[in-house]
Amino acid sequence: MIGRLNHVAIVVPDLAGASATYRDTLGATVTKAQDLPDHGVTTVFVELANTKIELLHPLGADSPVANFLSNNPSGGMHHICYEVQDIGAAIEQLVSEGARVLGDGQPKTGAHGLPVVFLHPKDFSGTLIELEEVGAA
Ligand code: CO
Repeated sequence: MIGRLNHVAIVVPDLAGASATYRDTLGATVTKAQDLPDHGVTTVFVELANTKIELLHPLGADSPVANFLSNNPSGGMHHICYEVQDIGAAIEQLVSEGARVLGDGQPKTGAHGLPVVFLHPKDFSGTLIELEEVGAA
């Protein structure tokens, strides 16, 4: 069901500082910051040859990453995003096997304008998983 690793997300306390570290210290290509009010985050993507790193910072009062940041003040790894071809079929299969889809269970539009869902970390070895529909290869 899952295809490529799309990105690994890291919550950071200082988005400009983390962007500069990836750009200047690690020599990576870094996108501009993008506010995603529907998700309560501001994102920067670090573009690597084989995948991406998503730097996340809380946006607004009800940000889903605000608690994570208060528990991990220096930041930390937050989720892993795998690509799927058909997110509806993936959700159906996962739910039928007892996995929990977070929120209302329906895909939302993610950072790349594509449908995404998040899966409960307790069902996946303590790791928050995002699925992103990239369509047929
Ligand atoms: Co993500």
